[in-house]
Amino acid sequence: CGIVGYVGNEAPQGIIIEGLKKLEYRGYDSAGIAVVNDGKIKLRKHVGEIVNLEKLIGNENLGGHVGIGHTRWATHGAPSDVNSHPHMSNDNRIALVHNGTVENYVEIREQLEKEGFTFKSDTDSEVAAVLFGKYYNELGDLKATMDKVTHEMTGTFALAAIAEDQPEKFVAYRKNAPLIVGKGNGCNFVASDFSALLKYTKDVYLLETGDTVVLTPDNVTIYDESGKEIKRETMHISWDESVAEKGKYEHFMLKEIFDQPKAIEETLDRNLSDGGRVSLYDMTLTKEDFAKFNKICIVACGTAYHAGLVGRNIFEKFVKMPVEVDVASEFRYRDPFVDEKTLFIAISQSGETADTLEALREAKRKGARVLSIVNVVGSTVARESDDVFYTWAGPEISVASTKAYTTQLLSLYLLALYLGDLRGTISEEYYREVVSELSEIPEKLEKVLTLRGDIEKLAKKLYDRDQVFFIGRGMDASVAYEGSLKLKEISYINSFAIAAGELKHGTIALMEPTTIVVALATQSKLFDKMVSNIQEVKARNAHVISIAKEGNTAIEEHSNETFYIPECMDEVSPLLSVIPLQIYAYYVAKEKGCEIDRPRNLAKSVTVE
Ligand code: G6P
Repeated sequence: CGIVGYVGNEAPQGIIIEGLKKLEYRGYDSAGIAVVNDGKIKLRKHVGEIVNLEKLIGNENLGGHVGIGHTRWATHGAPSDVNSHPHMSNDNRIALVHNGTVENYVEIREQLEKEGFTFKSDTDSEVAAVLFGKYYNELGDLKATMDKVTHEMTGTFALAAIAEDQPEKFVAYRKNAPLIVGKGNGCNFVASDFSALLKYTKDVYLLETGDTVVLTPDNVTIYDESGKEIKRETMHISWDESVAEKGKYEHFMLKEIFDQPKAIEETLDRNLSDGGRVSLYDMTLTKEDFAKFNKICIVACGTAYHAGLVGRNIFEKFVKMPVEVDVASEFRYRDPFVDEKTLFIAISQSGETADTLEALREAKRKGARVLSIVNVVGSTVARESDDVFYTWAGPEISVASTKAYTTQLLSLYLLALYLGDLRGTISEEYYREVVSELSEIPEKLEKVLTLRGDIEKLAKKLYDRDQVFFIGRGMDASVAYEGSLKLKEISYINSFAIAAGELKHGTIALMEPTTIVVALATQSKLFDKMVSNIQEVKARNAHVISIAKEGNTAIEEHSNETFYIPECMDEVSPLLSVIPLQIYAYYVAKEKGCEIDRPRNLAKSVTVE
């Protein structure tokens, strides 16, 4: 979910709606806004995307100087008008927005019902609003009420609340869910992330977990968990607003696919010295620290997890240490064997994914050293890690991740080179060879992107097939998982990825003459084996689309179509071979008329477990 709050000289309506649009990637099941005007709260909310809310408001001017807004990704309660935020207290004196989950909402709700309070929705968030209303009537102060409410509730939450008798003040609170404060001129803001505020201010306070903030047009007062007033550092954001615009592209996803050469170049520039050494200036991990580790644990979700799968191969090769890769939502619950001899690597584009964060905290509790690979500067994962490697992909707006994935891969290569060097497990010659290969990636990526036209034609021909398999061996298998995820999340096609050698142990039973098999065959040592697997599916009449390296034309006689990536070292091919898969997913979804940037049921940043 996404939150925006504003207090200042202008009317909040336009500012909040603009901000919510920038946060729509966090959820778009419903949207709402509440402002204080003439001693009353004006509330407007509607199921569906923000345009529906705009239609509902029409030409109406809600006026006022303070307001809060919300765009929702449904957890408790289906997407509907009543379940939308803001939620109101029973006497309509308070409006509140919430991101996260109130874990003990059932008990609180039962207690409030006993006291005579009523509820309109099925959400945990309305409980927070009703509770807030109850205490506000007793205490008459926004800050004191927020303290009381947040002491009673357990879970993770970012909250913002306005009161009908406070025309120029609001209160917000952050506990393990993202919330930042924007400092303007005669106005102040809160938001779930920077992108909502870039048009108005670039100076932000990063709140710590447990912080409460009271905002008026001229003041921001922050209190820490103990209730003490505290000074937090401001941070200046150097991005300008255009980084979050589509420009000449029809969708953010296409723009972000085409951003990749630049994003990779930026990540390389920031981490490679002129002499071709990986230089991580902010890294505090020393050779001595590293000597005590006996394993590496990589944990992430979704696309970031797929980057982690490639990372395992790279780390084992360069750092010569056992590497485990887990999806974050599973990691915590299997009582993982992690201790002070573990290097724990969390990968996250947003740095706010609740599952990844909780896994990181569990690893820390067990004594592991935490290093994170994160795109969003100042995000919670970044702040809670011992060391951070930023991916520098720039803001990624499309829910389906593309440039974040390739920059995560690159970061893993650079980190593995750095740590391999520190540990003395990578030879100088091999190190130089890999660095030189990585330096050539931006140029090679430009070349792969020229496949766009041919892939579009193919997508037009095959978009209506309802079953697609992605197969590969070694690192190609990891890329297959990512290709399959891209296709299913934006085109809703039932797609499935499997290590090619495993196909014959069950999954091949699903093969039908209309099935498409996308076969990745970029790994030289595994090429012949891969050809055998392709023949197995061809024998079942599947339509085979192969991805191979230039010059490897032997693949053509086994494939219906082949797309070539430039010649490169096997180890770095995932950085190139994923591109045709991203483009294929994009054009299939486009052909099917899907909402590419905002696929149904998904959110870019999932801040609930
Ligand atoms: C959500 C998004 C995915 C993303 C995953 C992890 O499910 O829809 O695209 O890969 O979260 O996000 P993170 O920000 O932690 O990389």
